[in-house]
Amino acid sequence: MKMLYSGKAKEIYDIGEDGHILVKFKDDITAGNGKKHSVLEGKGKLSNSANRIFFNLISDVPNHYVRDYDETSFVAKKMKMLPLEVVMRNYTAGSFCRRYGVKRGIKLKEPLFELFLKDDSLGDPLICEDTVISLNITDKHTISRIHEHTLEINRILSEFLSKHAILLVDFKLEFGFGEDGELLVGDEITPDTCRFWDAETKESLDKDVYRRSIADPREVYRVLLDRIEG
Ligand code: TMP
Repeated sequence: MKMLYSGKAKEIYDIGEDGHILVKFKDDITAGNGKKHSVLEGKGKLSNSANRIFFNLISDVPNHYVRDYDETSFVAKKMKMLPLEVVMRNYTAGSFCRRYGVKRGIKLKEPLFELFLKDDSLGDPLICEDTVISLNITDKHTISRIHEHTLEINRILSEFLSKHAILLVDFKLEFGFGEDGELLVGDEITPDTCRFWDAETKESLDKDVYRRSIADPREVYRVLLDRIEG
C-alpha cells in the first residue's frame, strides 16, 4: 500500500478504494508540539482499540470511521479537514488552567466549547468564532453544527465513561467534509486526545501521564481499556 502521509502519531495509506483511506496508528507518542517524542512498542495497538470503541459509540454522529482493518489501523472516509482543533471541557485542566490561572479539576458550569487554529508553527493558538468567520475558515452555521455535534459526543462519551467510574475531563475533535460535502468528525478519539480521570482517585488515564512524565502511558491506556472494553 502506498503511504500518502506520515504525521506525528498516524500514517495514512491509499487503500485502493474509492473515497476511502487507511489510517494506521504508529507507536510514536509526542507532547509539547513534538518537543517530547518516544516510540513505545504496542502503543499504536492501544490507541487503535480505544479509537474503535469511541467511534462505535458515536456512530449516530456523522463521522469518518468506515470499518476496522487490523490491530493498528482502520478504514476511513477521505476528508477535506478544517484547520481547527475543537476542544470541549467539563473540568479545568491543561492549557485552560495556564491561560486563566485557575486550579485543576474544577467542574465548569457548562461544557465549554473552544476552537484552536491548527498551526504547529504558531503553537495552535486559541481562536474566537468571529475570527474563524473573518478569516473565511468556515461559516457561522458550520461552527454551530460543529458545536452541536461536539455537545452530543460529550453527552454520549461522558455517560458511557461514568458507568465505568471515569470522568471525561476534556477532549479534542477535528472536523472536515466528506467527498459529498457532509460535515464529519475525523481524526481520532483516543487517550492521546482526551483527558480521562478515575472518578474516585482523579488519577489520569490518558496522555497527561506522558506529558507530565508520571508513568508509561501504555500502562494507563491498558487500565482504561480493561475498564471500558466488552
Ligand atoms: P489543552 O488543555 O492542552 O488545551 O488540551 C485540551 C484537550 O485537547 C486535551 O484533552 C488534550 C487535547 N489536545 C490534543 O488532542 N492535541 C493537542 O495538540 C492539544 C494541545 C490538546
